[in-house]
Amino acid sequence: MTMNRLGICIAGLDGAVGSTIVAGTLLVRNGQAPARGLLSEPWRERLDLCGLDQLVFAGWDVSGENLFEAAVRNAVLGRRRLQVVAKPLARVLPWAAPLGHTAADCARLARDMDRFRKRHQLDGAVLLNLLPTGRHRESQLYARAAAEARCPFINFTPNDCGEAVLQQVPYCGRDGKTGQTWLKSVLAPAFRARDLRVCGWYSANLLGNEDGRTVSNPGRGRDKIDSKTKLLGAMLGYEPAHVVRIDYYPPRGDNKESWDSIDLEGFLGMPMQIKVNGLWRDSILAAPMCLDLARFMQLAARRAERGPQQWLGLYFKSPYTAASAGAPEHAFFRQEQSLLDYLARAARRP
Ligand SMILES: NC(=O)c1ccc[n+]([C@@H]2O[C@H](COP(=O)([O-])OP(=O)(O)OC[C@H]3O[C@@H](n4cnc5c(N)ncnc54)[C@H](O)[C@@H]3O)[C@@H](O)[C@H]2O)c1
Repeated sequence: MTMNRLGICIAGLDGAVGSTIVAGTLLVRNGQAPARGLLSEPWRERLDLCGLDQLVFAGWDVSGENLFEAAVRNAVLGRRRLQVVAKPLARVLPWAAPLGHTAADCARLARDMDRFRKRHQLDGAVLLNLLPTGRHRESQLYARAAAEARCPFINFTPNDCGEAVLQQVPYCGRDGKTGQTWLKSVLAPAFRARDLRVCGWYSANLLGNEDGRTVSNPGRGRDKIDSKTKLLGAMLGYEPAHVVRIDYYPPRGDNKESWDSIDLEGFLGMPMQIKVNGLWRDSILAAPMCLDLARFMQLAARRAERGPQQWLGLYFKSPYTAASAGAPEHAFFRQEQSLLDYLARAARRP
C-alpha cells in the first residue's frame, strides 16, 4: 500500500476556519459526518490524492489554545458534537506565532515546517494562510517562509502576501469565494447570457464572528469589500451601480446572512427585481474548500508546477493569474471547466 501523507500547516490555526478544518476532518474520519462539499473527493483514486485519514495538521497562532478549546470558542459546531473528537483535537497545540518580521523569524517558520515534515514522515506539506483580514505584513512573512521551505502556498485571505517571492513554488489565492460572491459569479454570467441588463446590485451581509468584526472596520475591511466588488463589472462587461456592505452583528456568530437585491432591465426596457437571501455558515463553507485546495496543491507540487495556479480560480474572489495571462476569469462555470480540464489532463499525464 502506498502511503501518501500530506501535512497542512495553517497560519491562524485556532481561528474559526482553521479549527473547523481539523474538527471536521476528524468527525468525517470517525464516521460521524459526511464528507460533503469536497470537489476533490471523486478524483481521489484517479489522481492518487491523499485520503482524509492521511492528513496531518499543524500551524501557528497567537492564541496558544489547543484546538478543542479553540473549536469550542469559535462555536461553529456545538460542544456536544465536538466532544467525540475532543481528545485528538486537544492534542493539537499551535506553534508560537512569530513576534517580528525578520529573516530570523522567517527561517524559524521554515524550520517548523521542515521538522514537521520529518517527524511525521510526510510526502508533502502545504502552507495555508488563514490570518485575519488586513494582516498583510504577517501574511508576507508566511509566504516568504513557504518559499524558503519549498512549500506550496494557499492564500485564503484577502491579504497581500507579496506573491513575487513565491515564483519557485505553486501558489493560489486570493480570498476564498464561499457564499454570496460565489453565487454572484453564478448569477451574473447567467444574466449576461440572457441579455438581461443589470442596472444595480445591492449586497448586504450580517456576520457575527471574529472575521465579521475585523472586516466591518473600514480600514481593515477595505480589501475584503474590494474583492467582493471588483468581479461584477469584469463578468458583465459594464459597471452597474454596485454596493457591498458587511455589518458586524454578534448574535449571528459564524452564521452569516446575505441579502442581494438585483435590479434588472429586460425586453422593452421593462424593470424587474430579484431578491436573494442566503443563510450561510461561514466556516462550514470555507473548510472543505481549504481541504480541496491542500490536496490539489499537493498534486500541483507533484507535477512540478510553479507560480500562480489559475486552474484553482473558482475557489477565489480575486484569483491570481500569471502576468502574461491578462485579467482573471470570474464566471463560475468557466472556472469549473478549467478545473475539470486540468484534472482530466493530470489523470492522463500524472
Ligand atoms: N469563512 C469564510 O467563508 C471565508 C471566506 C473568505 C476568506 N476568509 C478569510 O479567512 C481568514 C480566516 O477567517 P477566520 O474566520 O478563521 O478568522 P479568525 O479571526 O477566526 O481566525 C484568524 C486566526 O489567526 C490568528 N492570528 C492572528 N495573527 C496571527 C499571526 N501573526 N500568526 C498566526 N496566527 C495569527 C488569530 O489568533 C485567529 O485565531 C480571514 O482572513 C477571512 O477573511 C474566510
